[in-house]
Amino acid sequence: MTVDLHGTFAVITGAAQGLGYAIAKAYTREGLRLAIMDFQAEKLASVEAELRASGGDCTGIPVDLTDAEQTDAAIRRAMELYGTPRVLVHNAAVLIERPLLEIPLVTWQKEINIALQAAYQLTYAVWQPMTDAGGGSIVYVSSRAGIEGFPNGSSYCAAKHGLEGLMKSLSGEGKPRNIAVNTITPGMYMHTPMSERNYPEELKQQWVDPIRLTPAFVFLARQDASGVTGQRLNAWELSQEDV
Ligand SMILES: NC(=O)c1ccc[n+]([C@@H]2O[C@H](COP(=O)([O-])OP(=O)(O)OC[C@H]3O[C@@H](n4cnc5c(N)ncnc54)[C@H](O)[C@@H]3O)[C@@H](O)[C@H]2O)c1
Repeated sequence: MTVDLHGTFAVITGAAQGLGYAIAKAYTREGLRLAIMDFQAEKLASVEAELRASGGDCTGIPVDLTDAEQTDAAIRRAMELYGTPRVLVHNAAVLIERPLLEIPLVTWQKEINIALQAAYQLTYAVWQPMTDAGGGSIVYVSSRAGIEGFPNGSSYCAAKHGLEGLMKSLSGEGKPRNIAVNTITPGMYMHTPMSERNYPEELKQQWVDPIRLTPAFVFLARQDASGVTGQRLNAWELSQEDV
């Protein structure tokens, strides 16, 4: 699709570092205006300053996405500032590996809520405005943990599986509204703070800068329901193609 993204608006969660930060840089280069969200307020402010200094139109909105009220307020603020997003990239997540008996209910709820409850809330908030605007693109960042399980990853795997189900259901509902809904998995080892904490040494030998996965996210920003929707995409593979 040859949609001109220049001047359109995107919301990106988890943009203070890692993959979300890389997507924010790539979208700024494409001329999108951005509301970037994260709970690391200081880091988020420095990303905002960096993107503004490079000519971008970007506002950092600090928010703890485990908190329903804060999440609602954050997406309302984003739309007050920039109107209806053309694209919503829900990328924030947390991965802390430990066995089930070390996950109390409150922790379980937080980890599921960052990924899944926030996905529901952010999508709910933009669903009608996107419809009224003629369409848009919603992207949930998934993982191999969205289709496989691994020991000591119960909350993460459950949340990512949930995102896959949400995508499959909403992509059908999105068709008459011209809203594309997709998930995307990195498909390559990435050098991010999450990976620094979790990767064994051999994977650190192979990791790449997440900026190399961002052509896939630019491709997805151009979609609506007449293009790619209802898919689980591989960011690395897609970024190798001429998209
Ligand atoms: N790193 C990998 O190898 C890998 C593999 C598969 C999938 N993923 C997925 O890619 C996405 C990005 O991962 P990453 O490696 O860049 O992770 P990261 O931990 O480096 O970055 C995640 C961002 O989310 C933010 N965040 C976490 N909890 C939050 C909350 N409660 N409210 C608001 N923001 C919050 C963090 O502050 C951080 O800036 C995640 O969805 C992750 O599950 C990563």
